[in-house]
Amino acid sequence: MNDIQNRADIELLVNSFYEKVHKDFDLAPVFVMPETEWDRHITRVVNFWENWLFQTGSYNGGMMWVHLQANQKHGLTTERFERWLSLWFITADTLFEGPRAEFVKSKALEIGQIMNAKMNNNS
Ligand code: HEM
Repeated sequence: MNDIQNRADIELLVNSFYEKVHKDFDLAPVFVMPETEWDRHITRVVNFWENWLFQTGSYNGGMMWVHLQANQKHGLTTERFERWLSLWFITADTLFEGPRAEFVKSKALEIGQIMNAKMNNNS
């Protein structure tokens, strides 16, 4: 199995992850949006990971604000963070192997823990 090599690999990772999210009864409702918004969302998430993995400068930030908004609208509970992270880990492990695959898991866990502590006050 290969490691994540390029933007196309990140797109595969992100799209495969959201296929699982859309089938998850608890997470799916949070991600219901019109197709144009969805395309924009995917691009931003792919930019985010590309920037971390390959320092492209393609992500301009603001992710905490986005999740605070999502929390107000849907409630990003600890259970939802746990489901999100487990689907992310499963997707990464199914597709890739190597330091970059490890990085996308550990970085998501780190960010997820920070967001969960902020939103659910249980740090
Ligand atoms: C309970 C878990 C989570 C839920 C329900 C959730 C939900 C969302 C939602 C609703 C959006 C905005 C979609 C849009 O309208 O464009 C979003 C954006 C995003 N999420 Fe999450 N998220 C979760 C956890 C995480 C974690 C742990 C990461 C860690 C990397 C992450 C990374 C991102 C990124 C990079 C964006 C794009 C931000 C931007 O547009 O600038 N999310 N998320």
